[in-house]
Amino acid sequence: MTRFHNKVHADKTGREIFVEAALEAAASVDKGFSFRDAGMLVLGNFTSDVFEGQGHTAALMADWLGVNPVPAVRVEDACASSGAALNVGVFAIASGMTDVAIVGGVEKMSQLNTEGVTDALALAADNLYEISVGFTFPSIYAAIASAYLHKYGARWEELAAVAIKNHVNGALNPKAHFQADIMTTAKRIGEKQGRTFANEMDFLKSEFNPIVSSPLRLFDCCPVSDGAAVAVLAADDVAKRYTDTPIHIAGIGQASDTIALHSRPDITTLSATVKAAGDAYKMAGIKPRDIRVADVHDCFTIAEVLATEDLGFFPKGAGGKAAEEGRTSLKGDTPINPDGGLKAKGHPVGATGVAMAYEMFKQLRGEAGAVQVGGAEVGLIHNVGAAGATVVVQVMRR
Ligand code: COA
Repeated sequence: MTRFHNKVHADKTGREIFVEAALEAAASVDKGFSFRDAGMLVLGNFTSDVFEGQGHTAALMADWLGVNPVPAVRVEDACASSGAALNVGVFAIASGMTDVAIVGGVEKMSQLNTEGVTDALALAADNLYEISVGFTFPSIYAAIASAYLHKYGARWEELAAVAIKNHVNGALNPKAHFQADIMTTAKRIGEKQGRTFANEMDFLKSEFNPIVSSPLRLFDCCPVSDGAAVAVLAADDVAKRYTDTPIHIAGIGQASDTIALHSRPDITTLSATVKAAGDAYKMAGIKPRDIRVADVHDCFTIAEVLATEDLGFFPKGAGGKAAEEGRTSLKGDTPINPDGGLKAKGHPVGATGVAMAYEMFKQLRGEAGAVQVGGAEVGLIHNVGAAGATVVVQVMRR
């Protein structure tokens, strides 16, 4: 995985960022790996067409890795593109078509300004019912947050607790976009502005955390990031050629829902998460309580709250309180997003699903350093496209 950031890759193209991640992936394989070992390349990418004016990116990446003429397939499922690409890699191996696949994701977003990025991302919403009336992703998730706060009598502070926790974790992740906890940021801004903040919440309620789309403020949102992540998938019977400590994909799930929110009976639950997770749990033969650590899709703080409920970790209406009580922090009983999540790690949309697999691989091998969760034998990753029209879940096991 490359660093996720909006500036450090400024002078690189998407293909160069992808190659950087792929070279690191190959070099990390314990017993050695050559790209030429792969019989297929699967690429998750949302819209390099709009961001970079470059389509047909799977063949392009295959060429840049030097793996022609193996088949190269691009998967586009909005922000779940590389989670879905991971599943396609599993299908390719399960079908017997190949024993080894390179699966990755990339997005180079930052050459557009925030308005341009917002328009590009909005292409994943429904253009008939949502884009045409001015909805953007912050406002779609703000509608979800409003409905949630109303339905469960929850407080915005519960959402803010997710941001505080994820920035604490991101500060420990050398690949994260934001490597500062919120108090450190508050002190930095306070010094410049001649202000002091008593604690994180004092800062988060100030004008330095402006409303983006009510009730969501700046620190409720993921940033705009560039980055790539790459994984090597191998069939069970060949994995030992590459490592004595493989991590198994024990269960997968993917589900769809209406894109337009107004067609859903209840926008405070992502029914595609419930379905995808149910299928993944069943395939892995486990229950939600068997998951020791999870990376979930927190593009906005409300999304993490919904995820921890819809995945079955907490009852509906209790996810925000669980974050506030520290249950989802590194030392809590249900650690969520030890890498900082999309909120602090960043969200180059097409790269996010495989970046979650990268973190879970390290967690399950006991190689996650400062953010290692003790006793991590079974983990889960959860990647959402748009506001839950696509959801992908993988259960991973040591
Ligand atoms: N959280 C915390 N701080 C953030 C931030 C975020 N999400 N985004 C930007 N910042 C900080 C920057 O680091 C910068 O700080 P500095 O001045 O101290 O260096 C400052 O805010 C201004 O950054 P800028 O890039 O100009 O912000 P912006 O106002 O143009 O954009 C958002 C902010 C929230 C609108 C933008 O990050 C965004 O659109 N995020 C959501 C992306 C999205 O929808 N993804 C898909 C999800 S489905």
